[in-house]
Amino acid sequence: MNDNAVFEQLVSVVQNYHTSQRSGKFLEYKSPDELGRILELDKFADPGDWQEIFHWVEKYFAYSIKSHHPSFVNRMWVGANLPSIVGEIVAAVSNTSACTYESAPVSTLMEKYMISQMLDLVGFVNGEGQMTTGSSNANMIAMMAARNMSNSAVKRAGLFGQQELFAFAGANAHYSMDKAANILGIGIDHLIKVPHNVRGEMKVTELELALNQAKANGGEPFFVAATAGTTVRGSYDAIEQLLELRKKYHFWLHVDGAWGGAAVMSEKLREKYLKGLEYADSFTLDFHKMLGASLMCNILLINNRSHTLGTVLSAGDGSYLFRNEHDNEVDDFGAVSLQCGRRVDSLKWFLDWKFFGREGFGKRIEKYLELCEYAEEWVNQSEELEMVVPRTSFNVCFRFKVAEEESNSFNLALRSRLYQEGTSLVGITYIEGDLFMRLLITNSASDESDIDSFFQSLIDTGRIISRERDN
Ligand SMILES: Cc1ncc(COP(=O)(O)O)c(C=O)c1O
Repeated sequence: MNDNAVFEQLVSVVQNYHTSQRSGKFLEYKSPDELGRILELDKFADPGDWQEIFHWVEKYFAYSIKSHHPSFVNRMWVGANLPSIVGEIVAAVSNTSACTYESAPVSTLMEKYMISQMLDLVGFVNGEGQMTTGSSNANMIAMMAARNMSNSAVKRAGLFGQQELFAFAGANAHYSMDKAANILGIGIDHLIKVPHNVRGEMKVTELELALNQAKANGGEPFFVAATAGTTVRGSYDAIEQLLELRKKYHFWLHVDGAWGGAAVMSEKLREKYLKGLEYADSFTLDFHKMLGASLMCNILLINNRSHTLGTVLSAGDGSYLFRNEHDNEVDDFGAVSLQCGRRVDSLKWFLDWKFFGREGFGKRIEKYLELCEYAEEWVNQSEELEMVVPRTSFNVCFRFKVAEEESNSFNLALRSRLYQEGTSLVGITYIEGDLFMRLLITNSASDESDIDSFFQSLIDTGRIISRERDN
């Protein structure tokens, strides 16, 4: 097979998969043993045998989840936007590292352009940014920037013999904050988890108590992370109130908008959920979640300090790689990234941005919120379902109603049955020991009828399991 024939076959299998994404079951479930046998991972392939390669490609598609299927409501992402898929393919074919202008001139300029677009959109002045490998790492870089800006000796001397540092985040913040505290030598015990109110938002009065406590113990509170859309409940911490506290305690205020930061695309939702964002010190947003870019695609923005990332992240001798001496003075992103090689993520986000624009994304997010309202109504009107906590934004946390003592095992069994029958895949999680389902709507092709089918099939299966348990 020559290269052209390979491309022809590739386009044909990719197209078949893509057109079947919303039909049939979302998954042909097989147990790990069965799937292992089907995949024949050990099978010898004659070197250069393209037919064998395409057999594995076909099997990959046949037994993977169809992430764009309306019944896949499990994660914060679904099948990607088509322009971003185009970007992904182009990036794969042209395979380069976005670490230097030399090796990735187009991608570097696109990344710079997208950063300036996003700085303007968020309202950060004299800021900077970079595309990172996701919000976990963006949260860590933000914490690192705050650490090194609060004590510039740390970069060289480490934390040895320094004043104890304390970071703060809501009790519902993403676990990447804990990881960051671990990796950066702050220590997980120095990441103080602040209790939340009934809506799941960090209690600012409790935060102030914790800040004072840390200071009274001789520590330095250097970093507060607000979450804009918590992972489980979708709660938004009150940025404006945190800004007031910052005046008194001078910490770095980071906003983790991995999930709910997408509200920045809609004037209406920004006003509702992100008031004060333009005054935060840093902000991260995943384009690969609600906005639909292909995984991974993220941005970290820093406000008001245009050379922070260079100061904080550059280290060691990279002169074999980084020039930074072009006539047009384009800095190499690799010099201020965590890693050396960088994937070209800017192209897919750039193409999505040009294709949908801010208005398109804003409308998309508003529609998701309307569908969440619709889903909440469904639960409230059903005799068999109940909300576990009130919905505050994009997360619908509900469960099938059964006797309290069997609620967790019943809901777990229900969710597994739906998955293994290829009916739907919905997230599960716990709030204070109670297991519940977390419905997330991030599929731009979804509408009310998809929500109807999701709940109807869930209730039908729940009834069957109830009957089985009664017999
Ligand atoms: C609030 C929040 N922050 C951070 C992350 C981590 O994002 P990523 O998967 O891009 O590392 C998530 C992921 O779900 C999240 O919900």
